[in-house]
Amino acid sequence: MLDTIESLAKEEKSFTASNTFKRKANSQTQSLYSSAKTDRLSFWDNQAQNLEWFSPYTSILEWNRPFAKWFSGGTLNASVNCLDIHLKTKAQKKAIIWEGENGDIKELSYQEVFEEVNKLADILKNKFNVKKGDRVTLYMPMIPELLYALLACSRIGAIHSVVFGGFSAQSLKDRILDSQSKMVITANGGSRRGKVLNLKNIVDEALSKNDTPVENVLIVNHLPEDTCPTQKKEYDQSYNELRKSAANYVEPEHMESEDILFILYTSGTTGKPKGIVHTTGGYLTHAKYSTKTVFDLKDDDIYWCTADIGWITGHTYMVYGPMANGATVVMYEGAPDYPEKNRFWEIIEKHNVSILYTAPTAIRAFMKWGLTHIEKHNLSSLRLLGSVGEPINPEAWEWYYNHIGSKQCPIVDTWWQTETGGIMISNIPSLNDMKPGFAGLPLPGIEAKILDKDGGEVSKGGGLLSLTEPWPSMLRGIWGDNKRYKEVYWDKFNTYFAGDGAIKDKDDYIKVLGRVDDVLNVAGHRIGTMEVESALVEFEGVAEAAVVGMPDEIKGQAIVSFVILEENFKQDDDLENKLKQFVSKQIGAIAKPKQIIFTPDLPKTRSGKIMRRILKNIAANEDTGGTSTLANPAIVKSIKEQFNKLS
Ligand code: WTA
Repeated sequence: MLDTIESLAKEEKSFTASNTFKRKANSQTQSLYSSAKTDRLSFWDNQAQNLEWFSPYTSILEWNRPFAKWFSGGTLNASVNCLDIHLKTKAQKKAIIWEGENGDIKELSYQEVFEEVNKLADILKNKFNVKKGDRVTLYMPMIPELLYALLACSRIGAIHSVVFGGFSAQSLKDRILDSQSKMVITANGGSRRGKVLNLKNIVDEALSKNDTPVENVLIVNHLPEDTCPTQKKEYDQSYNELRKSAANYVEPEHMESEDILFILYTSGTTGKPKGIVHTTGGYLTHAKYSTKTVFDLKDDDIYWCTADIGWITGHTYMVYGPMANGATVVMYEGAPDYPEKNRFWEIIEKHNVSILYTAPTAIRAFMKWGLTHIEKHNLSSLRLLGSVGEPINPEAWEWYYNHIGSKQCPIVDTWWQTETGGIMISNIPSLNDMKPGFAGLPLPGIEAKILDKDGGEVSKGGGLLSLTEPWPSMLRGIWGDNKRYKEVYWDKFNTYFAGDGAIKDKDDYIKVLGRVDDVLNVAGHRIGTMEVESALVEFEGVAEAAVVGMPDEIKGQAIVSFVILEENFKQDDDLENKLKQFVSKQIGAIAKPKQIIFTPDLPKTRSGKIMRRILKNIAANEDTGGTSTLANPAIVKSIKEQFNKLS
C-alpha cells in the first residue's frame, strides 16, 4: 500500500471552483466546519431544527454503543417534511420532471405530488389496512408512482422496503420473507432498453408457493396491457382503479424520531443480504442538510440524480434529500444508451439540468462511447457535477470535468454507504479545492479516521476507514438481527468499521480505495461473493465454487467464478452460459459472472480452506506470491493458464 501512497502524492493535481460559482454558493465561510468542531451535537441540533417537528425532541443524542437514538422525544413525519411544508410557498413549483424511456414526459408540481401521495396513502391505509410499523415491499420501475409509494408509506408510518427492479423472483421473495411484508406494490412492467420488463410476472413467481405473508399486490398499470400481458391473481389490486375514488388527504402519522422509516437490503460478506434499518428524524436531518450543502442546492436548480430508487442513493438523493429541500428533481425511467448513446445529454439539454449526480461506471461508459454524442448538445445549464458508488479514477474524473462540465463545474466525489444513510465524505464545492480521485474531507458533523488493523489511527497513509462518532443518519441495526449488526460493524474496532480501505494525504483529504472484505462492487452495485457462490452451488453438477472480482475497465469490477464440477457430471458445451443464466435468475442480472473457469480443484490450505487471495491475484493479473504452503500448489499454474487464455 505504501507504494500507492507515494505515487499518489506525485500525481496529485488540484482544481478549484470558479469565482462565479463561489460567489453565489450556499457556503461562503468555514462556519459549518467551525461550528461542528466547536460543538458537534449542537451543530446537529441546528440541522434538525430545519425540519418540521410536531413535537420537539428532548435530547439530541443518546449513545449506548452501538445503539444510537437521535432527537428522542420528538415527533415528525417524513412526507410532511417533503411535501406539506412546501405547499404554502411553492405548491405550483415542479417537484418531478419525469421522462419515460419512450420519450413520454410528465411534469408534476408539489401540489400534484402531494395529492397523489395522499391518494396512495389512503388506499394503503383505508383499503388495505396497512398500519404504522407494517412493512410494504416496493418492486417498481423508475416511475413517479415509486416516489409516491415511498412517501405514502412514510405518511402512514408504514416501513418501506424497496427492492431494485433488476433483482430476480428469488431475491425478491427472500426480502419479502425477511421483512415479513404484508403488501407489495409493483407495476405491470417497465421499459428497459426498448424491452418490456414484466415486473408483475416476477412478483407472481416470488409469491407462487403461497408461503409469504403478502395479502395484496397493488399494481400500477404503467405499460399498455397488450405490450405487457399479466395473469390475474386473487391478490391483485388495481392502483389505477382505486386511485379514482381515493381521498385527497390523509392525516400524517406522528412518528417518533426513532421510528423506522425504511429497510433497504444490501449485500454483506456472509449469508443473505441484510436489511439495513433507518429511522425517521436523524435520517431526514442528514438527508436535508447534506443535499443542500454538498450539491449547493438552490431554489431554481434542476437536479438530476441518475440512481435508481432501488438503491440508497435513490432514496436519499432522489427522494428524501431533494424533496425535503423543495427541489425540482428529474427522474428518468430507462437506460443511458437508449435509443442512442446521447440520451443523458439530450435530457440535460431539454430540461436545463443544473446539477448532475451519477456514477463512475456511467462516466467510463460515456468516455468509451466518445465525444460525438456529447458535442451536439448544449450542456451549459450544468453548474455542479457529482460522483458516487465507487472510486472514480483520476482519468474519468478529468474527463467528466473537461467534457461534461466544460471546466466550469466543480465535481463532488461523495463517499458513503447504504449503512451511513447519507454522504459522509465529500468536499463542500465552494470551500475546498478538488483533487481527482479523492473524496476529500468528512462533512461537517462527521468524524472519520483511518485505522490500522489494531484500531490505532494512521495519521498519514493507508488503512481501514472508520467513522468515529455517531451521526444522525447512521443505520440503527440490521432488520431482525442485532447480533449480526454488532459483529459486522462494531466488533472490529471500537468505532464503526466501514469495510473500505482508504488513505489520507497531507491535506487530510481521504481517498477511498475500495472494499477490503468479500464484497464486490460491480458497476457501483454491491454484491457479496458468498451470494454468487451459493447460487452457483445450487446448480446441479456444481460441487464447489469460489468467486472473486477482476478489474473491469468500465464496471470497476467484474465477477469471475471458479467452479469445480461433481466427478461424474457430464459437461456440455453450453454449461458456462447456463451457469451464467442460472446466477442471473437466482439473484439478478447484476450478479452474472463475466467469466467462469472450470477447474478440477481450487488452491487450498492444508486444512482445506480456499485461498481466495491467490484467486484474486490471478483475476487481477498479479503475482500470486508463494504457494508452497498450499495443499495443491500445482493447481495455481493450471488455473492461471486457463484464465490467461480467456482474457
Ligand atoms: C463504495 C452507495 C469510493 C464503497 C452510496 C462503499 C465509494 C460502497 C464511493 C457502498 C466513493 C461509494 N468513492 N468508493 N465516492 N461511494 N463507494 O451501500 O466501497 O451501495 O463501501 O452505497 O460503495 O455501496 P452502497
